[in-house]
Amino acid sequence: MLKRTRIYATDLSAAALEQAREGVYPAAAVREATTAYVEAGGRASFADYYTAAYGRMSLASFLRRDVVFSDHSLATDSAFAEVHLVMCRNVLIYFQPKLQTRAVGVFLDSLSRRGFLCLGAGESLLRTGHAGAFDVVDEAARLYRRR
Ligand SMILES: C[S@@+](CC[C@H](N)C(=O)[O-])C[C@H]1O[C@@H](n2cnc3c(N)ncnc32)[C@H](O)[C@@H]1O
Repeated sequence: MLKRTRIYATDLSAAALEQAREGVYPAAAVREATTAYVEAGGRASFADYYTAAYGRMSLASFLRRDVVFSDHSLATDSAFAEVHLVMCRNVLIYFQPKLQTRAVGVFLDSLSRRGFLCLGAGESLLRTGHAGAFDVVDEAARLYRRR
């Protein structure tokens, strides 16, 4: 499945993109990542997805191989691809309502019909003016589907 999937990973920050491209994190991140993996339903051993050395964890290269890392601002750029799923976690929470509206508009323009949007636990579509454009799949999981 991963082989047939193209993932676009975007951020405004060159430093964040560089870290994501390299896939190297402090070893302390392993515990949190393992918990998130298990909670998300991961069945294999999370240890299969990284190597640890010298106090750092390095994500397996096959996880990053088909990812296109790209500079993209939700404040100024428009949609650059048509996708089936947008995951944007812990970003809207830092935006003023006007910028939240713009960002969710970009997600809408990027999503194919019946495509999914997943936000962070502290985020909501409610004040964005775009709630009517989505069906709620699971409010607790912040999972929505484009109408
Ligand atoms: C708190 S981090 C969340 C990172 C990740 N989603 C997570 O949950 O671990 C917020 C990210 O939003 C990015 N960001 C801030 N303003 C942005 C913008 N206008 N467009 C795109 N990304 C932005 C920051 O550079 C940062 O990497």
